Parts: sequence; C-alpha cells; structure tokens
Amino acid sequence: MMTPMIPPILNFATGNLGGAELVEKSTTLADLQGLFADPHAEAVLSPDTQLYRVAMLPGNGGEGDLNMGVTYLEAGRVGQEFFMTRGHIHARAEQAEYYFGLCGRGLLLLQDMAGVCLLEQVFPGSVHHIPGHVAHRLVNTGETLLSALAVWPAIAGHDYNAMGECGFAVRVLAGEDGMPHLVTSDQQGM
Ligand code: PA5
Ligand code: NI
Repeated sequence: MMTPMIPPILNFATGNLGGAELVEKSTTLADLQGLFADPHAEAVLSPDTQLYRVAMLPGNGGEGDLNMGVTYLEAGRVGQEFFMTRGHIHARAEQAEYYFGLCGRGLLLLQDMAGVCLLEQVFPGSVHHIPGHVAHRLVNTGETLLSALAVWPAIAGHDYNAMGECGFAVRVLAGEDGMPHLVTSDQQGM
C-alpha cells in the first residue's frame, strides 16, 4: 500500500510555513532606500532593519505553474509612515494574484494603470483578488507582525520599475492617535 506523503504545512493561525525547503528573501530598510517619505526619519533607523521577508515554496517556474509564498511584514514606522512592502506590478502585467490575510492587521494598497487607488483591509481570513494590470503593496498598520499568503502565476514576474518615479499615489501614515490615515501625493507634494 502506498503511504500518503505529508505535504508542506501552512499554520493559518501563525502564518508559519513549514515542512518544505523554502526559498527565502529578506528586505531591509537599505533595500528600500528613498521609498519612505521622510528621509530624516529614515536616517535615524539602522539600514539593516528588516522590514519583511517572503518564504516561498520552490516552483518549477514554468508556464501554467503557480507560486505560493507568505510575506511576513514587521510592525513599525519610518517617522509617521507605516512599514510597507516595496510594491510592484507584474512583469506580465495581465497576470492576476490572490492574497489571503493570515495574522496581524494592515492594508492592501491597489493602484491601477490610470493611477486610481483602492485600499482593502487585511486581517486573518481576508481574501484579496488582485486583477491584472494592478500594482499592489502591503502596509502593516498594526502593532504585531502582518502575514499574508500570496498565490500567483509563476510566469507573472515582478516589475519594480514600471510605477516610475511617482510610485503609489497614496501613503499610509499614523495620525496623532496612531491610527492610519491616507495622504495623497498632492498633499505631500511628491
Ligand atoms: O507576489 C507577491 O505579490 C508577493 O509575494 C510580494 O512579492 C511580497 O509581498 C513582497 O513584496 P514586493 O515583491 O513588492 O517586495
Ligand atoms: Ni504580485
């Protein structure tokens, strides 16, 4: 009798992915230099500060295959601005993606090719369809680690330059009460 194999395991309560050899990528503040609005606040922090890491199951990368990975985004701020991922549009821009909130609280910032932004709340159990041609970025607005599962076509790729100099039209800053509020590029003079 064939013994069923134990597949990789995602702990939905903690966001921990295990049981497989993972491909891991860590992103520090230095990697995102100049992305946050306040350069003085950025200078106060160590460039080695880890903002997030992504743990991925290795895929074969071929046409028709799917990638899956979990993003672990630390809680914290650069000045008033909440920690966030770099954000990207897919190199094959028409390719869509799903995000699923696992633990922590945050926002998913979506921006279409016309520069129109949409925000969705991310929380344990939240489901996010990211259509093709839509740039996406996670923002941790909570006080604990934010983790989210992503599933996307292996051929999609990541384009970190397509957004151009202006980047996303909306930033998420903490108000005086510590709660997130949105600032548009017009308000920031970006
Ligand atoms: O594929 C995705 O959209 C995610 O796995 C992201 O790559 C991850 O959240 C890290 O963000 P970024 O690629 O913008 O640095
Ligand atoms: Ni993506």
